[in-house]
Amino acid sequence: MRIDEALRGATKLLAAHSIDGARRDASVLLVSVLGGDREILFRAPEQILTEPEVQQFQKLIDRRATREPVSHILGQREFWSRDFFVTSDVLDPRPDSETLIDAVLKHTKETRAPDAILDLGTGSGCLLLTLLAEIKNAKGVGVDLSDKALEIAVKNAKSLSLEDRSSFLKSLWFENVSGTFDVIVSNPPYIETDDIAGLQTEVRDFEPRLALDGGEDGLECYRQITAEISVFLKPEGFVIFEVGIGQDVAVGNLMRGAGFENIKVHYDLASVARCVSGQSKK
Ligand SMILES: C[S@@+](CC[C@H](N)C(=O)[O-])C[C@H]1O[C@@H](n2cnc3c(N)ncnc32)[C@H](O)[C@@H]1O
Repeated sequence: MRIDEALRGATKLLAAHSIDGARRDASVLLVSVLGGDREILFRAPEQILTEPEVQQFQKLIDRRATREPVSHILGQREFWSRDFFVTSDVLDPRPDSETLIDAVLKHTKETRAPDAILDLGTGSGCLLLTLLAEIKNAKGVGVDLSDKALEIAVKNAKSLSLEDRSSFLKSLWFENVSGTFDVIVSNPPYIETDDIAGLQTEVRDFEPRLALDGGEDGLECYRQITAEISVFLKPEGFVIFEVGIGQDVAVGNLMRGAGFENIKVHYDLASVARCVSGQSKK
């Protein structure tokens, strides 16, 4: 079978399963079978696939047809231009979360580089490890309640050569955390419990519920974290949360209630209020 024929057939099959971006997904999966050479789709569409390539591609397309995310099929996802290992045990790093990275980097440029960063609910470690990769001398701790997520975070730290500056800890938020930090970041679960059943299949059936469920009104984790956070932040420390759509005002109020100043909302590329930050007093 020719490359262009395989791509056409796979696109048709995924579209028949109502998958948005069927051609994009089929292309990404075919490129992975062909060893990562993207250009070949345009350079040599007439090239004949070997029988093992056809079979391998068919297996990947069958998995995608069940709505398994492409990132899980490939085992990795790009975030802030770096590749992170992902499985169904961690939330897929989302482009929206790059808003948080951008805000922390801007803040540290305007003030000073942090020595110590804490990431609450680290999942794949994408937030903490990206910050450590960008802020050369900082050290960081990532906590999560999921052992399997922590294993993935450690694997990512090694593959990014950041194991010397990062540590990962099983903890129910601050329970096992000690010390104080210059920056605390968190993208906690924020979906309202009743909304989970209506999520896209890729999210509902393939991402961990522990990473999604934010309680009855979606704000439960923010309440738990803001109730304790002040003790773990240095004077004039910076805290930033990713929030769900429409949660910025409520989370800002929780932060004000916890004594934070200089509350700011940060918008993603679609102009959605995506993060809320604040500073502790001097
Ligand atoms: C929305 S995911 C964020 C993952 C990652 N930080 C990211 O931005 O892609 C939330 C993470 O919080 C973890 N989590 C949920 N409840 C927790 C708790 N009480 N204490 C610690 N971690 C928790 C989940 O296991 C999950 O990895």
